[in-house]
Amino acid sequence: MTGTNSRRIYLDNAATSWPKPEAVYDAVDAYQRDNGATAWRGAYREADDVGRRVQQTRKRLVELIGAAEPERIVFTANGTESLNVAIHGLLRPGDHVVTSVVDHNSVLRPLRFLEEHLNVQVTRVPCDGRGIVDSDSVSQAIRSNTRLIALVHVSNVTGAIQPIEQVGRIAREHGVRYLVDAAQSLGHLPIDVGQVGADLLAAPGHKGLLGPSGLGVLYIAPGCEKELRSLRQGGTGSLSNEYRQPELLPDKYEPGNLNVPGVLGLGEALLFLKQHGLQQVRKHAEQLTARLLDGFA
Ligand SMILES: Cc1ncc(COP(=O)(O)O)c(C=O)c1O
Repeated sequence: MTGTNSRRIYLDNAATSWPKPEAVYDAVDAYQRDNGATAWRGAYREADDVGRRVQQTRKRLVELIGAAEPERIVFTANGTESLNVAIHGLLRPGDHVVTSVVDHNSVLRPLRFLEEHLNVQVTRVPCDGRGIVDSDSVSQAIRSNTRLIALVHVSNVTGAIQPIEQVGRIAREHGVRYLVDAAQSLGHLPIDVGQVGADLLAAPGHKGLLGPSGLGVLYIAPGCEKELRSLRQGGTGSLSNEYRQPELLPDKYEPGNLNVPGVLGLGEALLFLKQHGLQQVRKHAEQLTARLLDGFA
């Protein structure tokens, strides 16, 4: 670690991780200083290089979550936007959603908005004394018009880990779409979207993934994009002669220029996580926690 804050003790990693791996700072700096091109908008060397490295970040993300097609990763501004793209894109008037009382405001508030403005019905299932949601209560809440189950993986308040695989099985049994909010888990815990049965997985790039701020990711499982409307439309650098927003992934959900420095920084952060391994990173966090508790004692 370098800089004036090198001796700072930072305890706010649930809000955003700090410090980042050195390679993240270097990637952001090198891009801004030496490259500066947009992704998929130009046909010259620097633009090609940026496009290739943006694609590499998507590849590292799908590898991390056990998915196959890099195009199924959509970049957004933060975890909140990823969740909004999923929730607003999927729900229609008269739909019913099951979520929980321990979900984050970036799920609960869009749902509240849709309850008030789009006649969407919402069931918020309770949790037990440890903050854990019972998968049976999710199952019991499902109705004939349930279109979505939205569940946080790890609570930002209590750290409770929800039974996302059991709930995923329930979603599959009932043919209901399943959105997992992995804001506090991606980069900390292993997640395989196939095993979890997630149709949509949302996370910020700046928390456990160790990327720069101002970036979020959304994974969209095969087939789900047919039901998921784009919230914003605009330039994509593809099919530019068409008035309609392209249906191509990820372009459908990525109008406008990307946060390229953020994406390239995230690419380096993902390489760091891969090289060190999630288990090693977790062990380090546990050692620091033990030291802190020891100090308190
Ligand atoms: C569980 C959970 N979901 C979603 C978010 C939203 O992420 P962002 O701050 O990147 O919008 C947070 C952020 O604290 C969170 O803890």
